[in-house]
Amino acid sequence: MKQSSFGSKLKAHYKRFWWLHLIIFIAVTLILVLCLIYAAYPHIAQDNMNKSTLTVTALALSNPTPKSFHLFQNSTIGNPSSYHPQLDAFNASLSLHGGNPYGIVTLPHVHATKEAYTVVDQDVAITDLEAFTAYSAAVLGSDQVKLDVKGRTALHEMRFPTTHVDYHKTTTMAGLDKLSGFNVTSFSIKLTPDADGTNMVGNVSIPNPSVMTISMGNLTFNNLLPGTPPTPLGISHIDNLVLAPGPNVVPMRSTVNQSLVLQAIGSTYKDGMLPVIITGNSSMYNGEHLPYFEKPLQALVQNVTLDVGTALHALGLGSKELAQLVGDIGSDIGSIIGSILKI
Ligand SMILES: *[C@@H]1O[C@H](CO)[C@@H](O)[C@H](O)[C@H]1NC(C)=O
Ligand SMILES: *[C@@H]1O[C@H](CO)[C@@H](O)[C@H](O)[C@H]1NC(C)=O
Ligand SMILES: *[C@@H]1O[C@H](CO)[C@@H](O)[C@H](O)[C@H]1NC(C)=O
Ligand SMILES: *[C@@H]1O[C@H](CO)[C@@H](O)[C@H](O)[C@H]1NC(C)=O
Ligand SMILES: *[C@@H]1O[C@H](CO)[C@@H](O)[C@H](O)[C@H]1NC(C)=O
Ligand SMILES: *[C@@H]1O[C@H](CO)[C@@H](O)[C@H](O)[C@H]1NC(C)=O
Ligand SMILES: *[C@@H]1O[C@H](CO)[C@@H](O)[C@H](O)[C@H]1NC(C)=O
Ligand SMILES: *[C@@H]1O[C@H](CO)[C@@H](O)[C@H](O)[C@H]1NC(C)=O
Ligand SMILES: *[C@@H]1O[C@H](CO)[C@@H](O)[C@H](O)[C@H]1NC(C)=O
Repeated sequence: MKQSSFGSKLKAHYKRFWWLHLIIFIAVTLILVLCLIYAAYPHIAQDNMNKSTLTVTALALSNPTPKSFHLFQNSTIGNPSSYHPQLDAFNASLSLHGGNPYGIVTLPHVHATKEAYTVVDQDVAITDLEAFTAYSAAVLGSDQVKLDVKGRTALHEMRFPTTHVDYHKTTTMAGLDKLSGFNVTSFSIKLTPDADGTNMVGNVSIPNPSVMTISMGNLTFNNLLPGTPPTPLGISHIDNLVLAPGPNVVPMRSTVNQSLVLQAIGSTYKDGMLPVIITGNSSMYNGEHLPYFEKPLQALVQNVTLDVGTALHALGLGSKELAQLVGDIGSDIGSIIGSILKI
């Protein structure tokens, strides 16, 4: 009796206040769901961040000094997720994969749509010369370079509370692959050297399979004749080298020991084809050494073959000039060179 009256009271209560219960139910569910989402949201945001990709589409290093350089870098951020958050501008460290950071760049604010571009165009201070030299050595000496970009930024998505995410990306770029394909594509010999000692000028071709444009300054190279040990032959200069993506053909000038060249042709390379080993010596920009280019260049070795016979022939020497040129090297060598020149 009592129960049924309680039951009917309850029924009456529900009948009258059903809307209140519905509101309470919805509110509680909403709060629970929101709590779950809010609790899980930073993790979801980080997870999506982790799944995004970074591809460097253009990179230009200019105005290098021993302590800094200017960096232009255009990258694509790929975001496979269906939500497209805004990321605040943030400072990110750059390092060769697994190495110490060599500099900090400010990545601008980005709306991470399916494919967003992010452009860095700023001076970068070199914070760790050894680390930057290692990076530069990897760029010059490898066919692939892995670059780490690391930072932390605020992420905004619709009405969700702002959350902070780690931005840790490793991007893989093509490197300059030991400057493979380096070649002296044309040259001519000067019998009378210029005031600075230049007695050979030519063109050098340097392929650059990467997306990087690198200002390397004024370079000098050591030229050597193969042997154990190799014999120093002279020095070559390439001024204001700016290696752009694709093929590069740049002028070179050299001061070589011409009597050594003639001796080598007359005694060993009687077909007039002279093998020359070229290694890096120095990189100067505005009168200052750039150790982060010099060291990697010194480690690179290029073997080229110079068609000295043709270059000598192009001089159109007569037997009198030849005798002068050969000088005290010896008449037997003179006659070999004479036969190369067909005089
Ligand atoms: C994101 O990647 C880092 C490693 O870079 C890892 O430690 C972390 O657990 C990942 N976070 C999520 C939410 O996937
Ligand atoms: C960055 O690259 C994208 C795609 O290649 C291009 O549309 C954009 O103009 C580039 N931005 C700059 C500043 O070069
Ligand atoms: C980046 O670092 C510089 C120097 O420490 C600071 O002035 C700047 O505010 C930082 N920028 C951002 C977006 O954190
Ligand atoms: C280097 O250039 C010369 C002159 O153009 C050419 O004859 C020679 O084949 C080239 N060497 C290589 C390895 O490409
Ligand atoms: C270098 O190349 C340029 C352009 O092809 C050419 O005019 C010049 O004669 C070349 N120089 C030498 C020394 O071969
Ligand atoms: C260049 O030539 C030297 C000997 O003349 C040889 O030891 C070396 O392996 C060659 N290097 C390359 C990259 O061909
Ligand atoms: C040039 O080479 C010759 C022959 O090896 C050598 O006697 C002479 O000292 C060298 N000249 C210079 C300036 O190095
Ligand atoms: C660079 O060239 C100069 C002059 O020929 C020489 O004294 C010096 O040892 C060279 N340095 C290197 C690292 O090859
Ligand atoms: C390279 O050397 C030339 C001649 O000495 C000079 O005018 C030029 O400024 C130098 N270039 C750089 C980038 O230092």
